[in-house]
Amino acid sequence: MSGSGTVGIIPAVPVEFRPIRPEELAQFADVNLTAFGERGDPWFERWFRERVKPQDTIAAFADGQMVGSSLAFPLELALPGTVVTASGVTAVGVLPTHRRRGLLREMMTRQILGARDQGLAMAILWASEGAIYSRFGFGPAARSWRVALEHPRAQLVPLPTSGSLRMVGRDEALQRFPPLHDHLLQSRPGTIGRDQRAWEMSLSEDDPHLPRDEARLFLVVHQGDGGDDGYLVYRIRQAWSALGARSTLLISEMVANAPGAAADMWRYCLEVDLVHRVEASGRGLRPLDDPILWLAKDPQALELGLGTTIWARIIDVPEVLSARRYQRDGDLTIEVSDPVEHLAEGRFRLHVANGVGECRKTESSPDLILGVSELSSACLGQRCLTGLAAAGRLSMGDPAAARRADDLLAWDPPPWCFEDF
Ligand SMILES: CC(C)(COP(=O)(O)OP(=O)(O)OC[C@H]1O[C@@H](n2cnc3c(N)ncnc32)[C@H](O)[C@@H]1OP(=O)(O)O)[C@@H](O)C(=O)NCCC(=O)NCCS
Repeated sequence: MSGSGTVGIIPAVPVEFRPIRPEELAQFADVNLTAFGERGDPWFERWFRERVKPQDTIAAFADGQMVGSSLAFPLELALPGTVVTASGVTAVGVLPTHRRRGLLREMMTRQILGARDQGLAMAILWASEGAIYSRFGFGPAARSWRVALEHPRAQLVPLPTSGSLRMVGRDEALQRFPPLHDHLLQSRPGTIGRDQRAWEMSLSEDDPHLPRDEARLFLVVHQGDGGDDGYLVYRIRQAWSALGARSTLLISEMVANAPGAAADMWRYCLEVDLVHRVEASGRGLRPLDDPILWLAKDPQALELGLGTTIWARIIDVPEVLSARRYQRDGDLTIEVSDPVEHLAEGRFRLHVANGVGECRKTESSPDLILGVSELSSACLGQRCLTGLAAAGRLSMGDPAAARRADDLLAWDPPPWCFEDF
């Protein structure tokens, strides 16, 4: 990275990188929407106005014209057993006329170093294309299921219900859903905290990503013995055929904080009249341990696809490994390489006692040698190191080391994230 604000990436045209000025916000939004091929829209305008603070941006200017955008803002992220502040990288785009000349590389490097300077130990993002970000030290950190079921094969095991369901309006949902989400933040790694603005955006029906004729959000709360313990947000895509109604119920969000709540909500989705098919995708992606895998009478009736949600990037290894909690005790020595300015590089020893980790620099020989991207894939508790070793992406002194490392770093429940921020 260049120390000054200007680098000569395009030989004839120097490119300047700097935060935007307040009066450049509309241009920043326009560059980003153009990069994504999106149309301007009041919903986006609101998103940029509410979310973008000029000091959190890095934009690229070629010959004085803004041609690249990036934003990184602090957000609450659940790690195993704790919640930390992480840098949420988003609104990354480069105009099609200025691509593949290193503008993303420069903006991303600056955003990561900026997060370090703010004392943040991790960055996260949602990737538009998965091939982009491991070169910047990000690793896929939470996987989820896309699920679809169709009548008549979609039968669930008959079980007594565990509570009752009630439809609520938006205002009531804005009161009753946040505490249920806060509970998730405390119990499920990968969850991202939501402020009031994020809630209002997520329950708004004017999101331009939703086709107009299916933009109505249906809001349902689940009440168990102890009160509210789950909520459901869904949409209906209507369809009629000569055989009758063949509508699809699209799960936008389903949060279940008690064992029976998810089962009740799945059953409800399948029993809504006129619905032929139920789909959970996008923000409705389900956690890897969703009970639907065990609720379907015929597991082969489930259409399952593996999705990746957030990508994580450790910036400070001792900080992250000492902050999160563990479900087993043990020791692990790792040697970490980092493609971005050797930022997180070093040899570290993690000692876990009573579920609390202490991680420090060490001179001892490592059990595992790995990149920061691979370590980052494991930091939210996803069991992945054995698979990465089998894929040849780790070096080990002892072949059992990856399994031992997984045993130490994995967390139950596994990470899940449905917040595309
Ligand atoms: C993705 C995007 C930001 C890349 O910007 P860019 O300025 O062209 O990227 P750079 O030239 O800095 O490329 C940096 C590296 O990433 C790689 N890269 C860039 N875009 C890539 C892509 N879509 N897939 C795979 N690799 C990609 C480059 O090959 C380069 O690799 P190298 O330096 O290791 O050789 C730009 O293409 C874009 O705006 N795309 C549409 C919007 C989007 O997808 N944004 C990302 C949101 S998560």
